[in-house]
Amino acid sequence: MKFSRRVTDTPPYLFHLIDEKRKAALERGMDVISLGIGDPDMPTPDFVLDLMNEEMRKPSNHQYPSYKGEFDFCENVAKWFETRFGAQLDPQHEIMATIGAKDAVSHLPFVFIDPGDTALVTDPGYPVYEAAIGFAGGAPIRIPLDEERDFLPDLSSIPDDVASAAKFIFVNYPNNPTAAVADESFFLDLVAFAGKHNLVILADNAYSEVYFEPKDRPISIMQIPNAKDISIEIHSFSKTFNMTGWRIGFIVGSKSLIDAVLTLKSNFDSGVFMAIQRAAARALGHPDAPLFNERRTQLFKVRRDIIASALEEIGFRFKLPRASYYFWVHIPENYSSSVAFCADLLEQQGLIVTPGVGYGPSGEAYFRISMTAEDNKIRQGMDRLTKFVKGL
Ligand SMILES: Cc1ncc(COP(=O)(O)O)c(C=O)c1O
Repeated sequence: MKFSRRVTDTPPYLFHLIDEKRKAALERGMDVISLGIGDPDMPTPDFVLDLMNEEMRKPSNHQYPSYKGEFDFCENVAKWFETRFGAQLDPQHEIMATIGAKDAVSHLPFVFIDPGDTALVTDPGYPVYEAAIGFAGGAPIRIPLDEERDFLPDLSSIPDDVASAAKFIFVNYPNNPTAAVADESFFLDLVAFAGKHNLVILADNAYSEVYFEPKDRPISIMQIPNAKDISIEIHSFSKTFNMTGWRIGFIVGSKSLIDAVLTLKSNFDSGVFMAIQRAAARALGHPDAPLFNERRTQLFKVRRDIIASALEEIGFRFKLPRASYYFWVHIPENYSSSVAFCADLLEQQGLIVTPGVGYGPSGEAYFRISMTAEDNKIRQGMDRLTKFVKGL
């Protein structure tokens, strides 16, 4: 077989590997609880399903969609953006529908990277950033996220020549896996830094609606003066409305940036099913959306508190998540490898959590717990974790 180095040099996708391990444990007859992947256990809300029912029955929605996204999709996104973030976007030129945020994340590097180029990524980070830079022939340069800095990158630590040589920087707040949030002052610094070094900012805001306290309500980089010309922000419906399987998201940025993405993506795919675009776009402004969001926050707060009190009781070191679905927790001191800790936990207790090193070398001392399971499963999971640690 003559596979490309793109394939042979790329390690298997972290969550694919974990899923294989889960299946193998189930086949051995083990009762497995997964607090691994960030996939909401709750269904897409009824008001979105009703909208989809309407939209999918319209024959005009059954043909090839436009490459950029339907105009009414973009218009609804622009309205939502203005209400939610107070930022103005031109629906004609500054918004594009994508097949989820992962579609955007995995293809954006191809818009900027030529073989041999470099790009900055935060470490730990969503694994697709590095993989996609590699697929495009580039090399990622990792900027560590330290707990002492609340998991925000120290931009001043990046040497000038390294920053100026790089094509772009990927950032992600609310952050997967650390659950950190970034405020306006961080984004002001980031825009100034990117402007100085002629870098594009790829800001992944997939978790913009998943936060716990009003003070931590995520902002958009589009609120920062002069950011639009040098930034693409990535959004997702997956986490906002429990729509992971629907595959819909969008990107926003200046016309020249969106046009460049369109040149690439119109050759790769043929857009998003129009019925999905229209159901999703109408969901954004739907009168039931705020209540759904409020209930989801309450539900996740209950889960967050169950996990936090269990972790405290066991003596784990962690910070309370401010947004996203995740706990980012130090592995016990008698372990030096996050993979070994997670493998032993699965082997002995049938509990799946993800090893921090899967998100980059700076994650080696951590593991990630996802809150996307029913409350009683989470309780059982915490009991298993307690038993495991007591047996160490
Ligand atoms: C940081 C981050 N970006 C993007 C995605 C992908 O989201 P989507 O389902 O919209 O492709 C995820 C999914 O977990 C994520 O954690």
